[in-house]
Amino acid sequence: MSAPRKLFVKTYGCQMNVYDSERMAGALGQSGYEQTDDMGEADMILLNTCHIREKAAEKVYSELGRLRPLKEANPDLKIGVAGCVAQAEGEEIMRRQPLVDLVVGPQAYHRLPDMEARARQGEKALDTDFPEEDKFDHLPAPRGPKARRAPAAFLTVQEGCDKFCAFCVVPYTRGAEVSRPAARLMAEARDLVERGVREITLLGQNVNAYHGAGDGGDWTLARLVRELAKVDGLERIRYTTSHPNDMSDDLIAAHGEIDKLMPYLHLPVQSGSDAVLKGMNRRHTAEQYLRLIERIRAARPDIAMSGDFIVGFPGESEANFADTLALCEEVRYASAFSFKYSPRPGTPAAGRDFVDDATASDRLARLQSLLTRHQREFQEAQVGRRMSVLVEKPGREAGQLVGKSPWLHAVHLDAPADSIGQVVDVEIVASNPNSLAARRIGA
Ligand code: 5AD
Ligand code: SF4
Repeated sequence: MSAPRKLFVKTYGCQMNVYDSERMAGALGQSGYEQTDDMGEADMILLNTCHIREKAAEKVYSELGRLRPLKEANPDLKIGVAGCVAQAEGEEIMRRQPLVDLVVGPQAYHRLPDMEARARQGEKALDTDFPEEDKFDHLPAPRGPKARRAPAAFLTVQEGCDKFCAFCVVPYTRGAEVSRPAARLMAEARDLVERGVREITLLGQNVNAYHGAGDGGDWTLARLVRELAKVDGLERIRYTTSHPNDMSDDLIAAHGEIDKLMPYLHLPVQSGSDAVLKGMNRRHTAEQYLRLIERIRAARPDIAMSGDFIVGFPGESEANFADTLALCEEVRYASAFSFKYSPRPGTPAAGRDFVDDATASDRLARLQSLLTRHQREFQEAQVGRRMSVLVEKPGREAGQLVGKSPWLHAVHLDAPADSIGQVVDVEIVASNPNSLAARRIGA
């Protein structure tokens, strides 16, 4: 038997891409590939790309250019582009970069083994379709020695988005909302737990719009969470990313009722100004968002909120921006991501007049300094508290391990290596810039 071929996957962007990369590796495993961390020995290099940030496509082209020496050294090396840039650029990638053998969009990953075979024959393989079938049905989870599971895993439950926010490419690159059937997700979750997973983060571009076929009709996300909570050995459940308008009453109630559902919610608002929210086509006001958070906090008082913001969106005035700062003061996010608006070709906002760059940069700096202050205050408030930590991996120093708090802090603690994969009780003893330090209690 010939030696296995080596696959090198480089993943950009969101957690969904991390999950997809793993499944693509699983699929190519069936074509005889083993994963490698060394690009130099690869027989196939797959870039799993992201289109959300500025100049994303240009960055992919320059990354591809850097692969030229490898391809010259090894003419059998196949180079593939997957992910949202593959979807958005399609054939253009092959035209601009003849080194590329294969371009595959996110909805066509189950066709990858076939495409790889065609690429091996010297053909160029391109697939950016949105087929009807569930791609994950045909994408096995990775197996073998490299597939030992970390204690926290992602599980994609829903893909695509029907919201069409005026700045966003996702409805174009990932397509319409599709939910995976609940029975498959339950089976996949049980399989993950059998392989040592203790925490599952349910993923979807619009995860709280999930409505997948299940026993007795469609299941909502709340129903899925309730059923997952019954799986023995699964100790923690999270989900991301949610749209405020899909935060249903049963999901809010679940936060108050299900201990395994972690007290942390990523609920992007993008702006605190009604005028800007309207321009963004977010379909809710700042007030509605704030009242929603009140209801969520009434159900689960210790919940930590997280958000995304865009500053300098076309038409944003200084007064509109001040509304964003005011909203942040009211919510006090435990963590948040903020970006300067940048136009994405093909999206409604791309043709509008935008705020000049100096003003946008200044607003971003002011917003980030406020968000960082709130984040630090939230973290410092943990010192002296007792909480559970899922121990995930060795830390940098000998004897030190790193885990995660219910509120998604990185927590350092001294504990024996065999506590990796366990949920342990700790007391927080210090707050460092990007993590907490803890000591184990009750061990
Ligand atoms: N410009 C700036 N930020 C954007 N985001 C999405 N599209 C753009 C854009 N065109 C941000 C949003 C989203 C996060 C994932 O990325 O805040 O929630
Ligand atoms: Fe993009 Fe999220 Fe808006 Fe959908 S809801 S269009 S993914 S920002």
